[in-house]
Amino acid sequence: MSEKKRTVRKGIGEVMDRRQAIKVGIGLGALGLMGVGLTRPAFLAGTTVRQTGPKRRMPVPRLIEAGSEPVELTMQSGRHSFLIGSDSPTAGFNGPYLGPTLRVRDGVNVPLVYRNQLTEAVAIHGHGLHVPGAVDGGPQREVPPGGEWAVELPIRQEACTSWFHPHTHGKTGPQTHQGLAALMIIEDENSQSLPLPSTYGIDDLPVVVQDRIFDRRGEMVYSIDDPEDGFMGDTVVVNGIVDATREVPAGLVRLRLLNASNARYYRFRFADGRVFHKIATDGGFLDEPVPVHEVVMVPGERNEIVVDFSDGRDATLVSGPASGDSAGRRGGRWEPGGLRDSFQILELTVDASLPAHTTPLPTQLNSIDRPIVQSHWRRRRFEMFMGGDGRRRDSSGGLDNGMMMGINGRAMDMAFINERVSLREWEVWDIRSRDGSHPFHVHGCSFLLLSREGRPIPEEDRGWKDTVQVDDQAEFIVRFEHEATAEYPYMYHCHILEHEDRGMMGQFTVT
Ligand code: C2O
Ligand code: CU
Ligand code: CU
Repeated sequence: MSEKKRTVRKGIGEVMDRRQAIKVGIGLGALGLMGVGLTRPAFLAGTTVRQTGPKRRMPVPRLIEAGSEPVELTMQSGRHSFLIGSDSPTAGFNGPYLGPTLRVRDGVNVPLVYRNQLTEAVAIHGHGLHVPGAVDGGPQREVPPGGEWAVELPIRQEACTSWFHPHTHGKTGPQTHQGLAALMIIEDENSQSLPLPSTYGIDDLPVVVQDRIFDRRGEMVYSIDDPEDGFMGDTVVVNGIVDATREVPAGLVRLRLLNASNARYYRFRFADGRVFHKIATDGGFLDEPVPVHEVVMVPGERNEIVVDFSDGRDATLVSGPASGDSAGRRGGRWEPGGLRDSFQILELTVDASLPAHTTPLPTQLNSIDRPIVQSHWRRRRFEMFMGGDGRRRDSSGGLDNGMMMGINGRAMDMAFINERVSLREWEVWDIRSRDGSHPFHVHGCSFLLLSREGRPIPEEDRGWKDTVQVDDQAEFIVRFEHEATAEYPYMYHCHILEHEDRGMMGQFTVT
């Protein structure tokens, strides 16, 4: 890793432009030489990336109300059609790609049975769940091919949108890319009493956003140009399809956005610039709905937004540079995670025959009890880094190239517990990035941000979170309510899955 590249990744525009030019040159050269490959250059960062032709109706994953009866989640391979006229080998839960949405209630113990019909071992983690380490599904909990894992998840947390995905040591990136990802919606007394759009599939829509690369035959390929970027696709799929459209009622519509991409960041906004309301972050409702024009989402993050269609106007959810002053403000500056790439995400068309939620948004959604930081609270510092600087490598394998990534000078080592945390004690975690921007995620908890990039936290991010974008620094307070032993510790890691797979992760116990 050259010093220059690190400088680049800290955002010096001119240098970045040169690097982009080099990358694009190499990409096109390789295509020319090999005479095969992608239908378009995949890595034209900062340009408008294509979205093609005819729209297809966005599918909505089947909803399973999970409670006393065990829910079977079978990991299986299959073929899935992302694009009209072609299909790809994929994997999913109970189907070829993605999986059903589980809806559960706070206070219930939810029995699940994961069956693995794939040819390799998979560990399945519940991202966002406040459950003990023993059922968290970290890399220690591999389900072998042909095996199963019966688990009971004690749901004890407020209403939110969580999700499941693989956490297999060194293989989280490719396995998640194959399609193993599904949502879990948690409801509680508060969420069920609030007058919010909540008719699943009508005015309460899951929107799982991923980027992919398709070759000439339209088959999905997992290829990484640069491990520092992680997997960056040039085509967006929503709930598993390209060019998605969905009909919505002429009222308030709630979108549960999940960035299930391996590495890409998005700046979601509507093409017509309309204001919408952000109502929830990763781990629960905001205190009040916050009107916004856009939301930036890093991999692993969830946000719930409410969009008003009562005037009958259709809308297109897009991602990329905003028009007008924000584009001017950012100027030609480098932005992380491909934020300067433009995509059409989802077209929403009003169908007046659908039952509409017309009750106005409640003014209060939650009352987050935000403690004042005490000087005696334990402080921990985590510094994410990339590059080959000769430090320790993982002893248990799983790294597939020479690039070294880690946190606090070490790569993830399953035989090493990095931190020991005390149960039910508030702590301050200070997260730094030495090079590049990284989404930092912690298992088994939600946290409250104190500051990000040295600035106070805006209203829209003052909710419970478990994943946060760290360009240089972020600070949050956190408290763990459940145990995690050395046998089944929790993880903290970068949620760029190719960084995680290369060691940017650590383990901790809570006792
Ligand atoms: Cu979403 Cu440890 O992961
Ligand atoms: Cu997690
Ligand atoms: Cu990272």
